[in-house]
Amino acid sequence: MNEKVIPDIDERNQIVNELDKNMLVEAGAGSGKTTSIVNRMVSLVISGKCKVENMAAITFTRKAAQELKERFQNELERRYREEENTAIKSALKEALENMEKSFIGTIHSFCASLLRERPVEGGVDPDFEEMDELTDKLMHKQAWQQYLLDIRKDFPEKLAELNDIGIKPADMEEIFNLLTEYPDVEVVRSRIQKPDLMPVVKELKKLLYRARHYIPKTEPEKGYDSLQSKIMDSVRMLSYFDMDTDINRVSILERFENEQRVILNRWLCDSATTKQIQGEFNTIAQTQIKPALQKWREYCHDVVMSFLLPAVEYYENLKARRSGLNFQDLLLKTVNMLKNHPEVRLYFQNKYRCLLIDEFQDTDPIQAELMFMITGQDINEKQWHKLVPHPVPFLLSGIRNSPYTDSEGRISIYTTA
Ligand SMILES: Nc1ncnc2c1ncn2[C@@H]1O[C@H](COP(=O)(O)OP(=O)(O)OP(=O)(O)O)[C@@H](O)[C@H]1O
Ligand SMILES: [Mg+2]
Repeated sequence: MNEKVIPDIDERNQIVNELDKNMLVEAGAGSGKTTSIVNRMVSLVISGKCKVENMAAITFTRKAAQELKERFQNELERRYREEENTAIKSALKEALENMEKSFIGTIHSFCASLLRERPVEGGVDPDFEEMDELTDKLMHKQAWQQYLLDIRKDFPEKLAELNDIGIKPADMEEIFNLLTEYPDVEVVRSRIQKPDLMPVVKELKKLLYRARHYIPKTEPEKGYDSLQSKIMDSVRMLSYFDMDTDINRVSILERFENEQRVILNRWLCDSATTKQIQGEFNTIAQTQIKPALQKWREYCHDVVMSFLLPAVEYYENLKARRSGLNFQDLLLKTVNMLKNHPEVRLYFQNKYRCLLIDEFQDTDPIQAELMFMITGQDINEKQWHKLVPHPVPFLLSGIRNSPYTDSEGRISIYTTA
């Protein structure tokens, strides 16, 4: 590429030359973010502003981390070969010799290294196992299946309770996975008595039996309107199905939960009477059906959660027995350690004077939290969004596919200093 035609050459130079400013870089795919990070790392070495052992270069996948390491090493070697100034040459040589002391790796392995160094404050077993996604998935499956077997054997009434609300255990595996994936999300619940839906069903039934007399026996030329169809279906359902079960009660109530539409000329009665019937359905929906279904859904939520939360605990125990930490645990435990131990924060701030992040995942706030904890000036501040990063460590984030990237994928820079 000819430098003259690079439209964002100034921004690219700024990344390499303005080393006392924190930067957030947004740019499109393949625009040169990783190249810019590598150039900035080399520039930090040459300027003497940061030694490799005080550098942490973080990215998201293992493949990207390996590539970042190789590109940094190649660039150091190339510059070393071409450099003529002896002071700079020796800085580059020292960096090459000490490269292994820098941290260049994934965000998860970065967290693991912090926790291994301070396991007591991190609240982890010093010999914890880093679980990759596959290992974690297998453990999920194992925990879920074992939990279901135990329930079948020891608490069959729990399955009956689920069956009564029309849910099969297999339907819940996905929610179980979600709950374990986001352990920081608090489940709001309260113990709720099973509501009695029968009185509302009885009221609805009276209205249905009254309304059906105004529906023609033979179908109107343009068909029955939607309220008429629902009424006829429900009257049939009331005579064929057993209304002793809650699932059937809910099924009939759900049809009349929302506002009803009518087409006046399809009814046997005059318009005023048709509108009155429509009004009565809408009133019972608002005053009785909606509140009853709301209670019913709160009750179901409670039943589902009392089935699922012990399963989550089962998985957590299984993981704890193996001292396993999955990706989310690594992030959460590291953030909590930094949040609650100012001296640990200070320690790592001194160790990593320079933080360079490629492929920053702006969709996961926990990563932003980690970044601010490790760069923030006030080590006692627990709310990450109130933290202001030190001018050093520098911070450079390559954001991939950011919604803010300019339409031509050019580099834009935001600085805090
Ligand atoms: N200033 C530049 N001049 C010439 N070529 C460049 C420049 N910057 C980057 N390139 C080249 O463009 C290609 C993509 O660069 P790079 O991998 O740094 O982009 P990226 O933004 O990190 O890509 P990705 O979105 O895939 O992570 C590479 O082949 C690199 O050598
Ligand atoms: Mg890249």
